[in-house]
Amino acid sequence: MDLRLKGKAALINGASQGIGFAIARTLAAEGADILISARKEEPLLKAADQLSAEFGRKVRTVVGDIRMLDGCDNILAAVREWGGVDILINNDGAPPLGPALDFDDLRWSRAFEQNLLSVVRMSRGVVPLMEARGGGAIVNITAGTAIQPLPNFGLSVATWAGVIGLAKTLSMELAPKNIRINTLCPGLIETPRLERADRAAPAEQATSLDVQEVMKMIPMGRKGEPGEIASIATFLASPLASYITGTTLAVDGGGNKSLL
Ligand SMILES: NC(=O)c1ccc[n+]([C@@H]2O[C@H](COP(=O)([O-])OP(=O)(O)OC[C@H]3O[C@@H](n4cnc5c(N)ncnc54)[C@H](OP(=O)(O)O)[C@@H]3O)[C@@H](O)[C@H]2O)c1
Repeated sequence: MDLRLKGKAALINGASQGIGFAIARTLAAEGADILISARKEEPLLKAADQLSAEFGRKVRTVVGDIRMLDGCDNILAAVREWGGVDILINNDGAPPLGPALDFDDLRWSRAFEQNLLSVVRMSRGVVPLMEARGGGAIVNITAGTAIQPLPNFGLSVATWAGVIGLAKTLSMELAPKNIRINTLCPGLIETPRLERADRAAPAEQATSLDVQEVMKMIPMGRKGEPGEIASIATFLASPLASYITGTTLAVDGGGNKSLL
């Protein structure tokens, strides 16, 4: 199936490894031109070299911390210099785990900036550029816990629930501009991040993800691969998903048990 992505320009944030890297790779494989971002320059350049070598095309990079206004501005400046984008993938790391009320206002503000305000800032920056190109698509990467919360995930749950609400609102406000926005909620995905959580020292386990316990809740009985998130994100970003906006989709091996 041709996803009609050849020549489209895509910005993928948090793309030096894990889910973001897999999305960048799938978009590049479908012929999109890509700009990837992350905080650390060395792994970002390594990721870009790997994708350039694989697909024989230049992969652009920009360093920026999406938790900060100047980080978002830096990424958006690179997008403008590039001439705008058709696709934005909002993705990064996540706030720390722990009992929700143990976090002070500073931690809550940081979580809000990282998970929710970054999506506002990036969307605010790219929407006029997408509009000038006749439309576009935004895909947000959140987590299964945003729709089926777990203890210790409060910072993420509260702020990503906000992203889901924001995306629904934007789907209505941006549809007349031919811009779609959808949100994915991955379950357990085999990435460096999950590996770190799985290896948590005993002292950290009370506020860490118990991967084996979460695995028991997955009907398919396995973790997902980053490529299994990437293929859905790429489809949603493509013109083939032209009638899908405002949707929240779990990609979790059946982990989400809700009827709604
Ligand atoms: N893996 C899972 O099981 C799973 C499940 C559900 C949801 N998710 C969510 O999916 C997203 C991606 O997860 P992942 O497992 O792929 O993580 P990962 O392996 O840790 O990769 C995260 C990527 O984002 C970049 N990044 C992190 N913080 C950033 C920031 N503040 N600004 C800009 N870039 C940043 C990292 O590079 P730098 O460190 O250089 O910035 C890296 O490229 C996260 O939001 C995660 O919570 C993951």
